[in-house]
Parts: sequence; C-alpha cells; structure tokens
Amino acid sequence: MSNQINIPRGTQDILPGQTEKWQLIEAKARELCERYQYRELRTPIFEHTDLFKRSVGDTTDIVQKEMYTFTDRGDRSLTLRPEGTAAAVRSFVENKMFGSPNQPVKLYYMGPMFRYERPQAGRFRQFVQFGVEAMGSADPAIDAEVISLAMSLYKELGLKKLKLVVNSLGDKESRKAHRDALVSHFQPRIGEFCSDCQNRLEKNPMRILDCKADRGHELMKSAPSIIDYLTDDSAQYFNKVTKYLTNLGIEFEVDANLVRGLDYYNHTAFEIMSDAEGFGAITTLCGGGRYNGLVEEIGGPETPGIGFALSIERLLAALEAEGVELPVNEGIECYLVSLGEEAKDYTVGLLHNLRMAGFSAERDYQDRKIKAQFKAADRMNARYVAVLGEDELKANKINLKSMADGEQTELPLESFIEKFKEICK
Ligand code: HAM
Repeated sequence: MSNQINIPRGTQDILPGQTEKWQLIEAKARELCERYQYRELRTPIFEHTDLFKRSVGDTTDIVQKEMYTFTDRGDRSLTLRPEGTAAAVRSFVENKMFGSPNQPVKLYYMGPMFRYERPQAGRFRQFVQFGVEAMGSADPAIDAEVISLAMSLYKELGLKKLKLVVNSLGDKESRKAHRDALVSHFQPRIGEFCSDCQNRLEKNPMRILDCKADRGHELMKSAPSIIDYLTDDSAQYFNKVTKYLTNLGIEFEVDANLVRGLDYYNHTAFEIMSDAEGFGAITTLCGGGRYNGLVEEIGGPETPGIGFALSIERLLAALEAEGVELPVNEGIECYLVSLGEEAKDYTVGLLHNLRMAGFSAERDYQDRKIKAQFKAADRMNARYVAVLGEDELKANKINLKSMADGEQTELPLESFIEKFKEICK
C-alpha cells in the first residue's frame, strides 16, 4: 500500500450514496431551466487563456493566481475554465446566436470548473457550477428573473436560511466617477496596502475593495461606495430591479459594499448566502450580475447580458447545515433469492426479464446462503423478495414476499413478470 496514489488536493470523489443527491439536484436545476426557458449549452473544459484574461480581467485573483494554465504541444496557452460566463459569451459570439430571432438568448450550463485556491470547507480546486446566462436584453425584469431562478432552486430543494444581497455597480460613467473617488481615497496611504493593491490602484482600484489580505484596513470601511456615484439612469435601472424583486416576493438586502471578484460586471450584482448556523466561513452560495459590454469585448455586437453561477458543493453543504434530507430514491423493487443450483440458474433469466420489464432488480452473485441473501435484500431496501427453491421450481411456482408487511403470495413461474407488474401498480 506504500506506493498508493491519492486524489489531488482540493478535489473529491463523489461516491455512490452521494451521487444520487447530485443527480437529484442536477435534475431539479434542469427542470427549473425548462420552466424558465433556459437551454443547455456545453462548451469545452479548456479555452484559450486570453479569453479569461480579457473577460474575467487581468487584475483579478482568478486570473493572477488561480488559473490552471498550460501550454499544449502546439505551443498554445490554454486554461482549464475557472468559470462559465466567458465561454458562454465566446460561444454566443462564435455561433452568431445574436442573429437568432429568439432574443434574449437564454442558456444554462453545468460542469466542472477549476481554480487553484487554498482548499477549505466549501472551497475546492475542482468544483461543479450550475449557471445561467441571458444575453440580448437590458430589461430589468430579466435581472429579476435570473435572481428568481437561483432562489427557486434553493427553495424548492428545501433551503430556508438564505440571504440575498444586491447592489448596483452602475454604468461606465458611474464607474468612472467611483474610480476617481477610490483613487483619491486610497492614494495617500497606498503604501500601507499589499503589493497587489498597489498595482490595483492604477489599473483597477475597485479590486482593492475585494482584497483578502487588506480586508481589515481602516480605509476599507470608509471607502466611497458606488451607490453614491450612480448616474440617474443607473439608479433608475436598479430601482426597477429591486421593485420587481419585491413584486416577486423575493426578500433582499442592498449592500453597497458588494463587489464581485470578476471584472466584467456593471449594473446589477448579487450574491446569495447561507444564513444557517454552523455553515463554514465561506457563506456565499451563488454569485452573479449584469455584464453589458462583455460580448463586445469578446468580439461580438453590442449585447447586454446577465447571469449567475452556483456550485453544487456549496449547495450540498447548505442542505447539510440546515439538516435537509433530499428525497433520494433508495431501494430496489425486487430481489431474487434462490436455493439450489437449478433455481440459481433460472434466476439469471428471470432477473433479466424483470429488468426488461422496467423493474430495478438484483440477485445474489456471492453464492450466499439463503439467510444471507435475505440480509442482502434488506440492505438493498428491496420492496419485494421473490424466493425460488428447488420445490418451487418443480411446482412451477415462485414465492413473493412483501417486505413492508411480510405478506407472502405464491405465483405461477411463467406469468411471474405479468403478475408482478399488477402487484406493483
Ligand atoms: P463566482 O462568484 O466566481 O462567479 O462563482 C460563483 C459561485 O461558484 C460561487 O458563489 C460559489 O458557489 C462557486 N464557487 C466559486 N469558487 C468555488 C470553489 N473554489 N469551490 C466551490 N465553489 C466555488 C462566477 O463564476 C461568475 N461566472 C458567475 C456569473 C455568471 N456571473 C454572470 N454570469
């Protein structure tokens, strides 16, 4: 065992017992997307590195510190996707979805993302995001729709302790005014900040507000807030979004300090947190916002966009923190117990027929004694156990036992499948 190879740090195996929960969540997400009319987009796991530099932003932690970037044999710089929006926008442009008569284009994706972060509870190096992107509409109602979809997923899965935080990052003009105010605020004492922040002051001062190292600095609390610099148009847009959220009965808080860790945002930005006691230090379950301008940045025509992404890992952690049990389907419909060589042989075909008739069914493959076969059936949570011994086989019968009430029925062997169908109805 000494030369055993273990799983890479920050990744996890999802084992049977857990995968059923994943499947249930994935099915719920897909079903919600169907109701909200978002359609699935599947993009590659890796993209050209430049795509993320240009969209997520050169000065962000994701691009500077967290990407899995490699050079392929053709000397291209490629990166395992750290998030899904960049690829969705690239695909939107490349496949000319802006030309589709169905606008906005509403997409969703589900799959692994990769970030070289310090692993801890709720933070992995490979994690699965479910995300949606709506491109082609600047109607604040679509902002409310996107937020409502994320909230519905959590609520329908049984989460109650949620906190939705929204903010507006404004338009270009608002951001320019805010940027100038930030520079004036931090410049005199920028020497007290980390070297990353010193670089950010010129390139992207808003990123300073998101710095993990300098979080505690006194200038952080007193920093000018974007909300005070919104243009009338931006403020009006944000008012509409919050009005629609109220109309939909979605509770929220406005947090003027909410800045997201990616550069492409403007106007609406939001995060959903878990308020559950005992939830780890990282409470953000979902993040998203508007990214008008990103499509142009990636080479497409002027197109507004908005979306969110959430990880299934954090969703599961929130369910656990709230003690919500997912109604996963455990158990099988029929276990075949057999006694004697001939009967064992017979169950090979019988098992196949049960499965072909649509039932989940199993038999013994370990040459177990009859008692141990019953135990195995119990462990598998079998609804029925069908017993075929030598005597039954001779008499062309099979004994069916309901595990719920212990009731036993003798059934003719040839018509067992038909009869079993009727019983299970
Ligand atoms: P993000 O805030 O970087 O946004 O990530 C969104 C969500 O992904 C987080 O709220 C969290 O649930 C999950 N997540 C991020 N990093 C990790 C990690 N290391 N381990 C586990 N879960 C993680 C985006 O990715 C944007 N693309 C969202 C978006 C879509 N904005 C517009 N459209």
